[in-house]
Amino acid sequence: AMDLNQSYRSLVLAVAQHPSVKHLMLTRGKGFSRRFVAGDTLEEALQVVEALEADKIHAILDLLGEMVTSEEQSRQFQAEILRLIQALAAKPYPRYVALKLTQLGLDLDEALAVELMQGLLEEARKTECFVRIDMEDSPRVDATLRVYRRLREAGYTNTGIVLQSYLKRTERDLEALLPLKPAVRIVKGAYKEPPEVAFQDKRLIDGQYLVLAKKALENGLYTAIASHDPHIIGEMKRWTTERGLTPEQFEFQLLYGVRRDEQKRLAAEGYTVRAYIPYGTDWYPYLSRRIAERPENLMFVARSLVQG
Ligand code: FDA
Repeated sequence: AMDLNQSYRSLVLAVAQHPSVKHLMLTRGKGFSRRFVAGDTLEEALQVVEALEADKIHAILDLLGEMVTSEEQSRQFQAEILRLIQALAAKPYPRYVALKLTQLGLDLDEALAVELMQGLLEEARKTECFVRIDMEDSPRVDATLRVYRRLREAGYTNTGIVLQSYLKRTERDLEALLPLKPAVRIVKGAYKEPPEVAFQDKRLIDGQYLVLAKKALENGLYTAIASHDPHIIGEMKRWTTERGLTPEQFEFQLLYGVRRDEQKRLAAEGYTVRAYIPYGTDWYPYLSRRIAERPENLMFVARSLVQG
């Protein structure tokens, strides 16, 4: 396997923003997007959920959309996510959604994002639905954590945050959050970040991942270990077994379309496993990050564009 570093990621994410590349992908990349995106509609996403549930893999449903630029768009996204939460209410499996705060207007007005989140959490708690706040790029980390704190102060416990091991600040963020006992998801981080704020070396990012996941678990936080990395999954299995941790204390999370066999295997071994299932028409930024994670994906997409 290739040793991926931030410079490959940065290059792909920069090229992806080029208007002609974007145009080509939007017009011809839809077939490829189906590797990672369940469909345009909620109904298509729910069919994927049924199929995964048959393998004891639970779902995290994510309506694609981010960085909105108007209050109207923010409210539209909130209405769509409410529809998602209500659709899940009727289902027998665990209810879980993910969203991004810039989808709810974080860049426009932090108070708007808080208000829209409160509406969602109010509806979600009627049906024991959990709402994960994804973490976005580094300029938005402070605001995201502030909104999370506001929601916790307002009494909402059915929500959690994400911490990224590539950011140099994250260990301090985790320490500062410990008194709140947040539900955390640990990831490596998917955005283009400069060396001032983020480690660029894969070994450092991986090492820091294990430090954060273990620290979260040692402090009794319910922890989602979100990675496809065999070394990380293997080490966390070993470590949690050695410590006698149970499936009530942690879970594994992977992305829809990535290492499906491993998802099944972990579930069959008795671990709690969730797959992150994006749906919706706003798939371009999500797909760009998936391509930036793995050179092979760039080859697949190039081939599918040529073949049409
Ligand atoms: P790494 O990138 O080292 O990959 C290890 C191996 O996994 C690869 O060798 C390959 O086999 C496989 N793999 C990884 N990515 C692949 C891909 N795209 N296609 C095919 N195979 C692939 N990030 C973020 O910044 N904020 C967030 O909120 C989230 N949320 C989130 C939720 C969940 C459930 C997951 C799994 C991931 C995220 N991420 C995220 C993304 C995360 O930051 C990271 O970019 C990816 O998970 C890839 O990193 P890995 O830990 O998988 O390791």
